[in-house]
Amino acid sequence: MATTQGIKLMTIRDLRIRRARVIVRVDFNEPISGRGHLSDDFRIRAAMPTLMKLLADGNQLVIISHLGRPNGKKRRTMSMKPIARRLSALLKRRVVFIRDPFSVRSRRFLATFEEGRVCMLENIRFWQEEEKNNLQFAEKLSRFGKYYVNDAFGASHRAHASIAGISRLLPSCAGLLLAREVRALDRMCHHQRHPFFVILAGGKASGKIELAKKFIHEADGVLLGGAIANSVLMSRGFEIGRSVAYHEMKNMKKMFNVSSQKLYTPLDVIVSPRIAQGAGSAIKLYSGVAAHDYIVDVGPATRRFFIKMLKNARTILWNGPLGVVEIPEFSAGTLAIINALKRSKAYKVTGGGDTVALLQKHRLVGVFDHVSTGGGAMLEYLAGKKMPGIEALRK
Ligand code: 3PG
Repeated sequence: MATTQGIKLMTIRDLRIRRARVIVRVDFNEPISGRGHLSDDFRIRAAMPTLMKLLADGNQLVIISHLGRPNGKKRRTMSMKPIARRLSALLKRRVVFIRDPFSVRSRRFLATFEEGRVCMLENIRFWQEEEKNNLQFAEKLSRFGKYYVNDAFGASHRAHASIAGISRLLPSCAGLLLAREVRALDRMCHHQRHPFFVILAGGKASGKIELAKKFIHEADGVLLGGAIANSVLMSRGFEIGRSVAYHEMKNMKKMFNVSSQKLYTPLDVIVSPRIAQGAGSAIKLYSGVAAHDYIVDVGPATRRFFIKMLKNARTILWNGPLGVVEIPEFSAGTLAIINALKRSKAYKVTGGGDTVALLQKHRLVGVFDHVSTGGGAMLEYLAGKKMPGIEALRK
């Protein structure tokens, strides 16, 4: 049993599902190129314990996921087929890909499905009823199994038919990944050991403002980088050049206390005339950015300062890289701090697509105690918002 926001959450271990047909909702929204090449499988691997356990208990699995945002239309580039192929390689067993789950042929096939078999349905967002949380659609989906397991933490902030609607129609519970996510994030929200530091950065500022506001009160320090740092510097009256920031909200002061003593913005920054590999860069003080500059990373003094601050931390929550890490030249600040965290004894949690990609590329996933598969979902959960996919399991 996992506990989320003070609520007990039943998992597959509690429900003891055996020799049954089980619908498993996962979030295999992985990056795929137009040619069907899968460049990451972090989320697929993260769901493996649930799938393996259900298979070991003699169940048949009907796996459902979304991929991208096809807006209710069938798009070849967003097919689940490459994902089914990768899943098959990881499970070391055949995964039958079901292109049209609602055809008579597919329904007949699923009715004769045997123990230990696995199938994966086509991208569930190809049907517009999914995002509308249409009840009839949820009912149609529920006929594919006797039980429903939600292991899609990354999509549980969406009130969609295969996430929220369906779990009201079948005996339902959480998968092991979902349970692990809520355990780790709950520790950040309710059981932090101090000193507790939060790092908020990345290319988008909007979702992080609420978290900055919250953690200024709960943490011992909130360290900022990326778009949110630029936005705070801008609202304090400093030039940020052409850097990414939350421009819609010029007056951030109205949203939260940007002068809080617990809020740490970069002391120095790396600037570049272009966001491109080989564009060249310079170190500048936060107050010395020119109108034509892009802030692309934190500077060396900031790195040293942040590393020193985090040295004695007992809990660290990190969301979003400190620089434009897609470009290797601008990832030095983020990497220097992650490498310094290798020696830290703090309980460390991170997440978000860009951070996960960077950690994987540099084989640094193991530095953290938990790497969340959620992007937006992680931010919403930490902000204390109710998640429809989790709420639906609280029956
Ligand atoms: C994600 O990648 O954050 C999840 O899969 C949710 O995707 P969405 O933002 O398109 O709902």
